[in-house]
Amino acid sequence: MPVTTTALLELRDICVSYKHHQVVHNVDLTVDRGEVVALIGPSGAGKSSLLRSINFLEEPNQGQVLLAGQRVGVLDRRGRAVPANRRQLAEHRRHVGMVFQSFNLFPHLSALENVILAQVHGLGRSRSAARERARQELEHVGLSDKSNMRPASCSGGQQQRIAIARALAMDPMLMLFDEPTSALDPELGIEVLNTMRRLADEGMTMVVVTHEMHFAEEVADRVVFMADGRIVEQGPASEVMNNPRHERTQRFLSAVKNR
Ligand SMILES: Nc1ncnc2c1ncn2[C@@H]1O[C@H](COP(=O)(O)OP(=O)(O)O)[C@@H](O)[C@H]1O
Ligand SMILES: [Mg+2]
Repeated sequence: MPVTTTALLELRDICVSYKHHQVVHNVDLTVDRGEVVALIGPSGAGKSSLLRSINFLEEPNQGQVLLAGQRVGVLDRRGRAVPANRRQLAEHRRHVGMVFQSFNLFPHLSALENVILAQVHGLGRSRSAARERARQELEHVGLSDKSNMRPASCSGGQQQRIAIARALAMDPMLMLFDEPTSALDPELGIEVLNTMRRLADEGMTMVVVTHEMHFAEEVADRVVFMADGRIVEQGPASEVMNNPRHERTQRFLSAVKNR
């Protein structure tokens, strides 16, 4: 497949439906290497569905996803596109780290073991290499001292940072975040946002669905506003946040800012 773009991620004409209910309509979105994109919009806009379509957790019923120029979820067999099987999909997903609102950590395992496990099972890394890498990533997110703790002994913010360390240990090309702080008290959310800000500064490519308008404005390079399954407006973060052009964006922003 020829590489026609310098973009790391390219979504072309993506549609997502549940049964006969279409929730994402013909979305095009390109994300460059090192770019941080904040995806904002009202509840039900289709943000999560779009994000999940990137690694085929939600299979788009139309359109193409390209990661580093390679089709995701589809293989090129002598010029014909055929759906990827489960193993091939798992291979595609390895390159995309995903962090959700819920942390999905194993409760009976220590923080360190949680970060080791996916590497051993997903990448086939040796336990010793995985342990070394887990130590590095827990340090990266500021949790060296929690390595031996179980998730229940950690705060929500710490648990989310363990989940981020687990994703980073898989060497993702791209990190996707779906409202990573919305289950947290504001104070604990801040430590997670600071960790994400550090990743952004280090050059990680990120797409972040967020209600944190300060984060969108200060950390994101670009803000994409979605409503009713479509991208209504996008542009440089400060422009969209302070000077939205579309009435729908203006209405949303004034509602969240006046909350
Ligand atoms: N698994 C699902 N089955 C059926 N409908 C869904 C499912 N997930 C989301 N939806 C519907 O799709 C629409 C978009 O949802 P979602 O992508 O979660 O939006 P957002 O993340 O912007 O709140 C909503 O109307 C929601 O009810
Ligand atoms: Mg959502």
